[in-house]
Amino acid sequence: MNRWYLDEKSLPDAWFNVLPRLSVPLDPPLHPATRQPVTPEDLAPLFPTALIEQEMSQEPWVDIPGQVVDALRLWRPTPLVRARRLEEALHTPARIYYKDESVSPAGSHKPNTAVPQAYYNKIEGVRRLSTETGAGQWGSALCFAGALFDLEVKVYMVRASFQQKPYRRVLMETWGGSVEPSPVDQPDHPGSLGTAISDAVRDAASRSDTHYSLGSVLNHVLLHQTVIGLEAKEQLKLAGEDGPDVVLAACGGGSNLGGIALPFVPDEDVRLVAVEPTSCPTLTRGKFEYDYGDVAGLTPLLSMYTLGHDFVPPSIHAGGLRYHGDAPIISHLVKQGRMEAIAYPQGKVFEAAVQFARTQGTVCAPETGHAIRAVIDEALAAKEEGVEKVILFDYSGHGLLDLAAYDDYLSGRLPD
Ligand SMILES: Cc1ncc(COP(=O)(O)O)c(C=O)c1O
Repeated sequence: MNRWYLDEKSLPDAWFNVLPRLSVPLDPPLHPATRQPVTPEDLAPLFPTALIEQEMSQEPWVDIPGQVVDALRLWRPTPLVRARRLEEALHTPARIYYKDESVSPAGSHKPNTAVPQAYYNKIEGVRRLSTETGAGQWGSALCFAGALFDLEVKVYMVRASFQQKPYRRVLMETWGGSVEPSPVDQPDHPGSLGTAISDAVRDAASRSDTHYSLGSVLNHVLLHQTVIGLEAKEQLKLAGEDGPDVVLAACGGGSNLGGIALPFVPDEDVRLVAVEPTSCPTLTRGKFEYDYGDVAGLTPLLSMYTLGHDFVPPSIHAGGLRYHGDAPIISHLVKQGRMEAIAYPQGKVFEAAVQFARTQGTVCAPETGHAIRAVIDEALAAKEEGVEKVILFDYSGHGLLDLAAYDDYLSGRLPD
């Protein structure tokens, strides 16, 4: 067999909360002016109450509302796939499985949190959402979720991606969203996730009908993404595996990695690996300290690995990995030694993405290519060591709107 499906009724009915399971508690976010821990009231202008509660919740499981489950059923549960042809090409004894999150309407894992975020805002009477997007995957996901729950969505898109990916904008507009390049006040600036977050937070803070929505980094976002790992656990059992030896995913802000890896945190013998670009090496070269989530210093201070909130990464094609910080949960796991981190230049990433396309057929997002690079190296190491290893990774998105990046790679125009 190559693919394992769960029926719609097996979609998880609760999210997995890692917070009460951490042996050392997470540092709290701090108010940018007072440097005291933020209170729910501080966050109320930006987020609905339910998400603020989830951000701080110590409940081991958080129920998924029925209307959210109904919307997730448009594409979930997603398949678990065994990459047999890649294994054969590598002559590896490793068994490689991936969770295919590219089958969602927006083409990535991002709708797993866009849908609940839109739902909670809607039931609290919010009319409009503002957000940032890097590669365009998150903006697309929120516009799609906004269409489901009849919310207006304004997306600030990192200018470098806005120029590289016109079709992502068209997708967002098709779902009824509106898109503006960021930073809004500096037309020559390539932008970064940090500048786009500043623009989106400013928008939400200046309008009473608008809340802000973040596609990664925060605890509640990683919580919503745990449906990926929960389903994968069931599907690996169906595939006859006791469990994975190693779980890998690309890491930008940490949401797809958190989604697939957090349910495995209590399984101490499972290795967890974050994969990032060498040009934006937050976990591998950054400092662990409190920093702002955005360039302008409008957000709370988060305890995380960071390259500095004013760091502007080069315009690599994996726009979703160009973030100066990382989720506090992911940073904490790396700091505590529970998770490893590794970085690759984009040439090596595209080499792996093309090998995957030529064996498995599907063309991945440049972000996902980072995970595939690391998976191939894990599988080759297993061959060297002569050990059978079960590798699980998150196929976080397809690359069908990223073909300009493949064109650059195939024509030798891609700088590392
Ligand atoms: C396909 C894909 N994978 C991965 C990422 C990285 O984000 P995160 O670390 O939040 O999963 C993105 C972000 O835009 C993405 O679009």
